Amino acid sequence: MTEAILLVGGRGTRLRPLTVRTPKPMVPAAGVPFLTHQLARARAAGVEHIVLATSYLAEVFEPYFGDGSSLGLHIEYVTEEEPLGTGGAIRNVASRLHSGPDDPVLIFNGDILTGLDIRALVATHETTGADVSLHLTRVEDPRAFGLVPTDATGRVTAFLEKPQSPEEIVTDQINAGAYVFRRSVVDSIPAGRPVSVERETFPELLATGAHLQGMVDSTYWLDLGTPQAFVRGSADLVLGRAPSPAVPGRCGDRLVLPTAVVAPDAKLTGGTVVGEGARIGEGARITGSTVLAGAVVEPGAVVTDSFVGAGAHIGERTVLAGAVIGDGAVVGPDNELREGVRVWCDARIPGATLRFSSDQ
Ligand code: GDD
Ligand code: MG
Repeated sequence: MTEAILLVGGRGTRLRPLTVRTPKPMVPAAGVPFLTHQLARARAAGVEHIVLATSYLAEVFEPYFGDGSSLGLHIEYVTEEEPLGTGGAIRNVASRLHSGPDDPVLIFNGDILTGLDIRALVATHETTGADVSLHLTRVEDPRAFGLVPTDATGRVTAFLEKPQSPEEIVTDQINAGAYVFRRSVVDSIPAGRPVSVERETFPELLATGAHLQGMVDSTYWLDLGTPQAFVRGSADLVLGRAPSPAVPGRCGDRLVLPTAVVAPDAKLTGGTVVGEGARIGEGARITGSTVLAGAVVEPGAVVTDSFVGAGAHIGERTVLAGAVIGDGAVVGPDNELREGVRVWCDARIPGATLRFSSDQ
């Protein structure tokens, strides 16, 4: 039986409380809490037992996913009293694992959307006999990630988390946040204190000659750490670019959940999701956006690459582009909100109050 640890804790999230009251893994992406996609993909790859390692708002996970049986999984929940870091969180759930000392244990960062072939990562781990195997991906700007240079055989030569100086940027290969650990490596992490797997465990393993194997895979990959990335990821799930068995419906230009009401001449494109009970008015145009449950987009509004929180209200002819509107916020008619704007939950913006001009 393959088992996995899913890391969903830490110091909170940039999506909360700015936009939504829900912890990030539970914010709907393509109509279901984001975590559902990771759980369903793991199940599809043969994982049967998952331990959710969390440190915040843990009480929202268990009521929703329960024992995991609706997904064909057995899910357990472990909550840290204080955030233990990525390595500490892994060590903290070791007693819940059933694997023997040499068995592979999958570990996933909880904020990644990817088409990774999970079975291939496990196969790489087994054929190379590595202690830890890491999914690597290539990005244009690696500075926000863990840099992972490898030799010609894919063996990891260094692990440089969030490089500060230009000299440290030695590769465009980064840690994509999915690992296979030999079970005994999990047990070797110090218990009872915060540990960063990226800053402590991996460099120490390398220093002591352990075998860390990288598998570069150029499939779809996105870290959903920012609201903008979250909106993109949700749209890519709907469009079918990011594969997930948990998308509730057929992939295509739009996903309209049951009980949402969309005016016949409203135009929904680019992977837009409209949540339960939401209402989209006549002539509204929504592209590549997430509109959560119960939100209202009035006639003539134009919404592009934006996040409209649960129960939020977007007035007639208002333009949103790259905007994040918190749950319950009301944006009156004839406003224009662009790139990077964040409207707090329950805030009220009167009609014809904001327009955007770069004065270029
Ligand atoms: N349980 C628990 N406790 N989970 C934690 C903790 C903790 O104290 N700290 C972080 N996590 C979880 C987060 O919820 C997330 O799912 C994952 O561990 C990674 O933490 P982030 O805070 O999102 O790290 P990051 O995005 O800056 O960097 C990590 O991911 C990159 C890929 O997106 C690193 O692993 C990088 O090396 C990697 O490139
Ligand atoms: Mg992250």
